[in-house]
Amino acid sequence: MLWGGRFSKDIDKFFLDFSSSIQFDINLLKYDLMVSRAHAKMLGQSGNITKDESREIVNGLDLIEAQFVAGNWNPLEDNQEDIHSAVENYLTKLIGDVAGKLHTARSRNDQVATGFRLWVKDSSRQLIDKIVELQKAFIDLSEQHVETIIPGYTHLQRAQPVSLAFHLLAYVEMFERDKTRLLNVIRDADVCPLGSGALAGTTLNIDREYTAKELGFSKVSSNALDSISDRDFVIDFLNACSVGMMHLSRLCEELILWSSSEWSFIQMDDSVTTGSSLMPQKKNPDAAELIRGKYGRVQGNYIAVSSMMKSLPLSYNRDMQEDKEPAFDSFTTFHNSLHLTKMMFNNISINVDRFKDELEGDYIFATDLADYLVSKGIPFRKAHQIVGEAVSYAISQNKKLNELSVTEFQQFDQVFDNSVYGCFDVSTSLDRKKSFGSPNPALLRQQIQKLKSKFS
Ligand code: ARG
Repeated sequence: MLWGGRFSKDIDKFFLDFSSSIQFDINLLKYDLMVSRAHAKMLGQSGNITKDESREIVNGLDLIEAQFVAGNWNPLEDNQEDIHSAVENYLTKLIGDVAGKLHTARSRNDQVATGFRLWVKDSSRQLIDKIVELQKAFIDLSEQHVETIIPGYTHLQRAQPVSLAFHLLAYVEMFERDKTRLLNVIRDADVCPLGSGALAGTTLNIDREYTAKELGFSKVSSNALDSISDRDFVIDFLNACSVGMMHLSRLCEELILWSSSEWSFIQMDDSVTTGSSLMPQKKNPDAAELIRGKYGRVQGNYIAVSSMMKSLPLSYNRDMQEDKEPAFDSFTTFHNSLHLTKMMFNNISINVDRFKDELEGDYIFATDLADYLVSKGIPFRKAHQIVGEAVSYAISQNKKLNELSVTEFQQFDQVFDNSVYGCFDVSTSLDRKKSFGSPNPALLRQQIQKLKSKFS
């Protein structure tokens, strides 16, 4: 233990196990060692310990890292409550009493807050890289599907025709926002709390700028009380993971629908689907279902930490140890889900012509028909009414829109003529879209080129 002096009895074993975080904060080992190295160097530079002592401590920390990587030290066997205690304990075994100087002008409170910030920055960067991989895959796939017509939906009712490229690029936009959210997390986590001590700084002469720079932080925190009790950066990270997973969950829902017999639009590769133990014909989209399902835990992690922080008085409270498992879990879940999503798209087979014939003359062109009337001078509200009546009539006749004769159309307004059939042509339906941000293939191609040069 790091705090024996005041106590006359050992900690209860059950309580130690209950309070121990080493099983999961072992994930912070690399960052804890970085923090300790920077701190030891600073203590040497600022004359709080000798240069030799500083060197001895840094070498000891290097040795710990090397031994851990080589599998020669297992911190879990040291019976310590957390990874920070385990490192210091082992350092003492390796280099003797001088190890006791490492904790000069430092508390585990500022140590944990610093290491965890480093972890959050690093993990956010790794997630951004993963998102970029997925964006690139979507952009490449979009290029092949600018003309692949699919129905666009609102309320899961057919609304207007779009293309698969347009649909995929919508996700590229969502992923872009996921990256921005993570970049904001990195920016806000980029403040170094080291040197804040337990809650009120130190009477010793330390150089906080030095350690901040050494650890790659762009600034030092300005209020020790806040520095060691702030977990906003964790909550922001968890929110970024949660929103990102929510996007993947929406995408997965679509993959599940699209791979059903009713949709028959895609087939997922055997390597990412499963069979049924009972029904031999089944090919199940379990990968997509699991990602959709895992959003629940990632959102739960956000709620767990934000509610844990609620009502905590300043400054550090042990409750705050509960910030780590959710963060590690959200990172791993989001990272793996991004990876698996890319795998699902790697070998997806797409039924390119699936909707071509089906949409010819479909009611999905009702809005085009209203625009047609608008171009003939009819106010949109009136055009909407006329087309509504025409659609209702077509449904009653069990006809598609392109199966109505001009005379039938003229029952609703004299302005209809032969040119009306141009509205129902699937192959030109997207070309007729003019506005920026629409699925017009020419616009989409331009956008894809722009994205390709941005991501190359
Ligand atoms: N494992 C603890 C945590 O992550 C370390 C900080 C302990 N500080 C303390 N004052 N007990 O929160």
